[in-house]
Order: sequence, then C-alpha cells, then structure tokens
Amino acid sequence: MDMTVRPRRLRNGETLRKMVRETRVDAASLVYPMFVMEGTDKVEEIDAMPGQYRYTVDRVGEKFKELFEAGVHAVMLFGIPDKKDEQASEAYNPCGVVQRALKEGKRVCPDMYYITDVCLCEYTSHGHCGVICDGDVLNDETLELLAKTALSHAEAGADMVAPSDMMDGRVAAIREVLDNNGFKNVPIMAYSAKYASAFYGPFREAAGSAPSFGDRKSYQMDFHNGREGIKEIMLDIEEGADIVMVKPAMSYLDIVANARDMVDLPIAAYSVSGEYAMVKAAAAKGWIDEDRIVAEMAVSAYRAGVDIYITYYAKEIAEMIQKGIIG
Ligand code: PBG
Repeated sequence: MDMTVRPRRLRNGETLRKMVRETRVDAASLVYPMFVMEGTDKVEEIDAMPGQYRYTVDRVGEKFKELFEAGVHAVMLFGIPDKKDEQASEAYNPCGVVQRALKEGKRVCPDMYYITDVCLCEYTSHGHCGVICDGDVLNDETLELLAKTALSHAEAGADMVAPSDMMDGRVAAIREVLDNNGFKNVPIMAYSAKYASAFYGPFREAAGSAPSFGDRKSYQMDFHNGREGIKEIMLDIEEGADIVMVKPAMSYLDIVANARDMVDLPIAAYSVSGEYAMVKAAAAKGWIDEDRIVAEMAVSAYRAGVDIYITYYAKEIAEMIQKGIIG
C-alpha cells in the first residue's frame, strides 16, 4: 500500500506514545473532598460511597497526613453539624465543625491546602441552600449568611473558599466581606456552572442535606443549557472569582471545553458523588476495571481543559501518576 500518512507510526511502543501525549496529568492539580462531623473518635463509612468516610474532628488529622504523603496536597471540607436550623447557624459558628477541622488540620498537617465548601444546605433544617420564605429560597437574604460563613472559614484558617450555593451575586458578596476583614489574599473558587443533577444523590446521603421539600432547580442550572453555563462563569469572573468550576464533571465536559476557549482563569471540574458511586458499584460487580475507568475519567477532564480536578479518587489517581500508569 502506498500511504504516506500512517497515524499508527506514533503508537508504536510505550516510550513513543508517552512522548507524543497531548495531555499530562500532575497530582498537584488534585483536590480531595472530605466530610467532617460532630462527635469524637469516629470514622463512619458512607453507605452509597464505599471507601469514603465521615470523620470526627479528632480523627480527620490522620487522614490529612495520609493524603499528603500520597501526594494529594489539597482537600475540600464539608461539614455535617448536629444541629440544623432555619438560619443555618452552625455554618458560621466560629466553633462549628468545619472551623474546628481547619484548626486541627493546620496543627496536624500544616502544609496541606485547605479549601472549604461554602453552602447552607448541610446546615439548614429544610436542606435548601438558602433562607426560605413561603416556600421560596430567598436570594439576597441568603448572601449575607454565605458571606458570614466564608468569613468564619477564613478566620479559622481556610486557604480558599468555594461557594456552591448558586445564589446570584454570592461571589461579589463574599469577596467584599473577605476584603473588608483582612482576607484580601484568600481566593474564591466559585462553583459557577453547577447543574441541578441527580449525580449528587450519594452526597446528600453522606451529608444529610437532601431538601425536605421541592428540589434545587430554582437555583442550580438546568442540564439542557450549555451557553447558560458560560454566562454563569463570566458573571462569577466579573464578580471576582479566582477559579471557576464546572460540576458535575463527566457529563459536562462540553461546558469545560467551551469555557476553556473563552476563559484564562484556572478551571476546575468536580467529579461528584454519583460518578464515584457508579464506578464503585460496577467495579464491585466485577463488570469494569476500576483503575482504568478512573484514569480515563480523570484524563478526559484534563483533555477537555481543566486545571484542577476535584475527585473522591484523588489518592488513587495520585498513586497512578506516581506509578506512571497515567501522566
Ligand atoms: C452543597 C454541595 C453539594 C455538592 C457539593 N456541594 C450538594 C448539592 O448541591 O446538592 C455535591 C457533591 C457531590 O455530589 O459529590 N450545595
């Protein structure tokens, strides 16, 4: 056959394949989400997320150290309070569970980078991400509580805050309060294009944060909309976001790829609880090769253009990078 162009020439052997790789993965870009709860000396496995746990504050430090040694240098903390109320008081309590976990983390594993999820749904009695009046989630009234929460995280030592509530104007509100209180250098990673997704199901079990009535569609985005995701990203950048996020990851990489063409800021994608649970369940049945599936999911997010990948598989991915399985 007379063929000058033969793509297979560059697939001949692992050394050459690695040389011509378009996407390279680095453990420095991984973030591991974690749940901290009230109580003492408990590590509880989450039913719908085998291999993921809720930690009491006194037990979370050992996990930070284990992750750090495995090459995962950033975590994102979610709090599970004992007391929930209409005003989400525990979210901005200086002695709240996330605030104490931050202090413990800074003491036990000071080199870890601590990001906090800023939202009210784990702290409200009704499970919505904002203040409720007559069945509606109020936007502007919620902003004040979100800003208070972000400030209390910064005061407790958070290196970065990540608002996930999807209220309009929350990035600006948080930026203003942080700046006015001496936290000009604490970056905001905004969950900008966050879709109303069934992929969050296992998380809501983990955090006990399912809404007691209705759904989150009046604030999280409709998954039929791609351009609107870009609009949300642009708005958050105008309001002062330092990093923008797309969430979930796997089914939303078109949003990442489009944003990559338009945005110079770092882009994060969050591979959420449902993505993790699906892989775990199929792997437990012996139907898929877990490591290889996880590698493909991660690399596809980087290929689409993410700089930061938030995943419950962070430690496993860091280990795969170290072993040269991906990278
Ligand atoms: C809080 C929040 C949620 C997730 C991250 N922050 C749940 C939700 O919006 O219902 C989901 C994370 C996951 O599924 O892994 N608003």
